Amino acid sequence: MIVLGIESSCDETGVALVATAGAQVPVLRAHALHSQIEMHQAYGGVVPELASRDHIRRVLPLAQQVLAESGCALREVDVVAYTRGPGLAGALLVGAGVACALGAALGKPVLGVHHLEGHLLSPFLSQDPPRFPFIALLVSGGHTQLMQVEGVGRYRMLGETIDDAAGEAFDKSAKLLGLSYPGGPALSQLAQQGDPTAFKLPRPLLHSGDLDFSFAGLKTAVLTQVNKLGPQLEERKADLAASTEAAIVEVLVKKSLAALERSALDRIVVAGGVGANRRLRAQLDAACGKRGVRVHYPELSLCTDNGAMIALAAAMRLQAGVQEARADYAFDVKPRWPLEAITSA
Ligand code: KG4
Ligand code: ZN
Repeated sequence: MIVLGIESSCDETGVALVATAGAQVPVLRAHALHSQIEMHQAYGGVVPELASRDHIRRVLPLAQQVLAESGCALREVDVVAYTRGPGLAGALLVGAGVACALGAALGKPVLGVHHLEGHLLSPFLSQDPPRFPFIALLVSGGHTQLMQVEGVGRYRMLGETIDDAAGEAFDKSAKLLGLSYPGGPALSQLAQQGDPTAFKLPRPLLHSGDLDFSFAGLKTAVLTQVNKLGPQLEERKADLAASTEAAIVEVLVKKSLAALERSALDRIVVAGGVGANRRLRAQLDAACGKRGVRVHYPELSLCTDNGAMIALAAAMRLQAGVQEARADYAFDVKPRWPLEAITSA
């Protein structure tokens, strides 16, 4: 079975082809991505209307590129998958509309995918794919969640952020430090030259006894330091970046370890954009290594939004029999869509 996947939930247009054989983990045949970062940079964040228009421009050329690279003809595609949500409504509608139009033209069924399930399953495309069950730490621009994953479509929420997401904490702190959008990678880069112990910043909910997160207070603490430093900010910027990163990472690592302990599982998957963070990877690897826990990541290029994870999630849902592709071509998008809504057990 060949699945064409389209991702257009936010500021990256992604298209990919995966192929399945029986119950084996799907294989990525080709993927192509266009990031809108440069376009939104002038505005300091994503402008939804510009995002939608750019997705329209990019999606078909990217699909053609993927078909050419994979050596696959359009008529060989068996299912067209798209991101149904969560995300920006207008941006989602582009992917959904194009997927359904393609499906209708080809006479092939379509399938709407949950963006976070895509992130969650993306490590299955890595050299070292996980096995079920595992703990998943999902850390993106809009979500911070710890889940127990029993199988495809079987996700149990263990804890999540009560305010800002981890990626949001990176992005907002970066903005306060005068770094350009998207702040996460920029702050992380600057942090490499700084001292992570230079500033005492709060570790919210570290000892709360549950698996929830809160990052809104950290942003306020960073703002307080920025105001205190005044003109000295420039020379202490790297230290403040390193201290901010250390605070976010420490909370993510400690809560992940607590989730592993509670569930008695010995595997964890880290997915979502913040999963690209070097400090998070180093600290989690070190802590899990000591405990005999295996840590799985998506390939670095598949950490942030991409079409491969959408094609993969669709293929795995079809393989597991938890969803059927439909050929009525009536589509809706779900800008707000909790992952629990697609959980079968
Ligand atoms: O998963 P993603 O691409 O999009 C969402 O679904 O939200 O995640 C984007 C988030 C942004 O907040 C970005 O700043 C953050 O991931 N991010 C990072 C790094 N790379 C991306 N945060 C920290 N360190 C990084 N290296
Ligand atoms: Zn994402």
